[in-house]
Amino acid sequence: MDMLKCLLFGLLLSLSLCDGAKILAVFPIPSPSHGILGDNMIKHLLDGGHEVTYITPYVSKQPSHPKLRVIDVTDNNKAFSDKVLNVKQIMSGAMNLQDNEILFEIMVNVAVTTFENPNVQNLLKDPTYKFDVIIGEYLFTNVYSTLAAVLQCPYIWFSTIEPHSMVLNLVHGPLNPAYYSDYLLAQIAPYSFDVRVKQLWSLLKGLYLQSGYFYDREEEIYMKLIAPIAKEQGKPVPNYNDLKYNASLLLGNTQVAIGSAIPLPPSYKHIGGYHIEEPVKPLPEDLKKIMDNAKNGVIYFSLGSNLKSKDLPDDLKQGLLKVFGGLKQTVLWKFEENLPGTPQNVHIVQWAPQQSILAHPNLILFVTHGGLLSLTEAIHFAAPLIVIPVFADQFFNANKAQRKGYAVKVDLTYRLHEDLRVALDKVLGDLPKYTARVQELSVAYHDKPMKPKDALNFWVNHVVKTKGAPHLKSVALQVPLYQRVYLDLIAVIFVALIVLLLIIKKILCLVTGKKTTKEKTN
Ligand SMILES: *[C@@H]1O[C@H](CO)[C@@H](O)[C@H](O)[C@H]1NC(C)=O
Repeated sequence: MDMLKCLLFGLLLSLSLCDGAKILAVFPIPSPSHGILGDNMIKHLLDGGHEVTYITPYVSKQPSHPKLRVIDVTDNNKAFSDKVLNVKQIMSGAMNLQDNEILFEIMVNVAVTTFENPNVQNLLKDPTYKFDVIIGEYLFTNVYSTLAAVLQCPYIWFSTIEPHSMVLNLVHGPLNPAYYSDYLLAQIAPYSFDVRVKQLWSLLKGLYLQSGYFYDREEEIYMKLIAPIAKEQGKPVPNYNDLKYNASLLLGNTQVAIGSAIPLPPSYKHIGGYHIEEPVKPLPEDLKKIMDNAKNGVIYFSLGSNLKSKDLPDDLKQGLLKVFGGLKQTVLWKFEENLPGTPQNVHIVQWAPQQSILAHPNLILFVTHGGLLSLTEAIHFAAPLIVIPVFADQFFNANKAQRKGYAVKVDLTYRLHEDLRVALDKVLGDLPKYTARVQELSVAYHDKPMKPKDALNFWVNHVVKTKGAPHLKSVALQVPLYQRVYLDLIAVIFVALIVLLLIIKKILCLVTGKKTTKEKTN
């Protein structure tokens, strides 16, 4: 009988594993790189046998798959207009995107538009939809965690950038600001005294915002758009804090070899690089011919998908053409328009299969904006870099790559062409050194127990199997921050010192006081 039970149980278990889990993937941010990360994650989850419901603004790009259901949030594009990224304003310094509050406002608007979207509302209101796990992107807001109140299943954060205090705070606690930078400050340790103070200040400000103003805004959104649905379905409405700090995992689009060796909680898992297609797709014929015939090597120049090179000032475009024209190498420039007077060694490509270009043996240098996807691809395919950071985490990425010794950073200004010429001379003049360095990092990056896509599926399965992986939840979450840093002890010592000082003062007063009264009576 027991044997039979065992067999039946085993059969059921294997059946349920074959079935795969029902996953809700929330990738609502209408920015191409976030779309790439979402699409590729979905692809691997489907390959892993899971059934995926995918909230995305990139509907037309989705393959038809029997286990994929797409929830259309194309409307999010309205909450994220062109105004967000204006090259000329960034170049003149008129626009500063290195600000938590501005970025939070943008992202919280995307969240509201997502929650208000009828397609999302229908999904949440339909009790026939059941999920085993939610994977939601963290980008400046924690509010997507409230979906767990309606769907009543474990929640996994996905963070697209290097680990930082605001996201780690959700699963463990902030990083030590004495050696690890806020990505907006973009500092590389070791720091000078004043940078360390600035770092602490920025951390405290971030924590204050996260638990104060941001919290209030998010709780309001939760109570207005999500909680009523849970109530209507007779489900409890948990406190927002209980949802916010209840994630099972934090998946990071990172790898230590690319980022920094910092202590991370057991619920943090590196899956960076999963977006890179293997095997690499072959190059289109025309590009292949150009790259095959480049006797002096190919330099690939791309400012990424958010920033359109056509928005660059005309003088700068001509300046860049001149700099590139003076090189003996072949230059591939990803650019959205044709330029007049393009030198013979410069080829403008409107659409560029970046991974295939970086994989070509004749590629010797990649000039990039330093988005984390490009950086990961550079290490994957071992290409040295010149980085021209534009916004968000790109400055931090650029500084790290420069410190690691495989990149040179150039600022995006109206003098970009002149500064780029200097940087090109520097890197091309010492190319073997930069190449050797990136090859070392590439070996470290590739040498891991599981491929990133397998790690993704492994950890998602683990959360489903262990019903939310409570064993991975950091103990630190049970202890308030003031206790973790012994603020209470410091307060006790401080009060004791004051009491001691008061007592000493009193004694001194008594002694000297006696004297004066004696003197008076005399
Ligand atoms: C927190 O997560 C666990 C595991 O997924 C779940 O059992 C619990 O109900 C969640 N708590 C809240 C308040 O949602």
